[in-house]
Amino acid sequence: MILVLNNRNNKVGYVVKSMKNINDQGSSNISKQSTEEPSFFQKKRKIVAPYNTELEYVRAYLAKCVTLSPVQKKIQAQNNIMPEGRMQIRPELAHFLGFILRLIKPQSILEVGSYTGFSALTFAESTDPSCKITAIDRNLEWTKLAEQFWKEAKISDRIHLIYGDAFTVLTDIIAQKKSFYDFIFIDADKKNYESYVNCALKLLAPSGLIIVDNVLWRGEVAKTDSVDPIAKMIHAFNERMFERTDIRLSIVPLDDGIMMIQKK
Ligand SMILES: C[S@@+](CC[C@H](N)C(=O)[O-])C[C@H]1O[C@@H](n2cnc3c(N)ncnc32)[C@H](O)[C@@H]1O
Repeated sequence: MILVLNNRNNKVGYVVKSMKNINDQGSSNISKQSTEEPSFFQKKRKIVAPYNTELEYVRAYLAKCVTLSPVQKKIQAQNNIMPEGRMQIRPELAHFLGFILRLIKPQSILEVGSYTGFSALTFAESTDPSCKITAIDRNLEWTKLAEQFWKEAKISDRIHLIYGDAFTVLTDIIAQKKSFYDFIFIDADKKNYESYVNCALKLLAPSGLIIVDNVLWRGEVAKTDSVDPIAKMIHAFNERMFERTDIRLSIVPLDDGIMMIQKK
């Protein structure tokens, strides 16, 4: 029996030649197709493929507990026909973020990178009507679509969209010394992630939460030999975050990987 598990990039993970060769000690007849060895965790649990939410059947399974609102569905349909549509957070991540927001009940949210409005809509729909959202993006065309969708969802009055370069806008908000946010979501250009986190830490309410998207970059960040320039950038960002002593963090391997950050 041959089971081939591919990830989205069509790179083969591990091929199980014979299921009956997997014994209780966890040794299996695995023919290695990639450079990585199965981890202790995989062997012990008899999991023969790397844990990977990019696998289509895992994603399909996760989708079973995800619900989308009518306007979320509309935005997703729109993004599906756009060349940059993959920039939208996936429904399973939106569902998870909504879940977290229902727990922490923020009164103010800051989003860095809104695209066509899916994530900001998720935040509005998962929070109390008194919660205000500030969204920053520099692309007029995409945010025009976002504004239409927010209007349709009747939550426009809760989202303040600021057009412009994120670092400039964040620096202005910091200079005004007026606003603090309970939840900050960073999902813009990866090369500036560290600057965005530094700004976000200045704008974060004492028990607030920062979430940074795409920190696993389809798993590329964990490869020492990756040639993907964005993966290298995010890898360097992650390493610097791991070394910081002023924050507490956790990476959740959902969608493209999120880093959850709290101030110590
Ligand atoms: C990955 S998309 C955001 C996706 C969005 N969070 C969603 O789930 O639909 C990144 C967005 O960041 C914006 N962006 C990238 N670099 C930026 C910058 N320096 N300043 C402001 N916006 C930026 C892009 O225009 C794009 O809309």
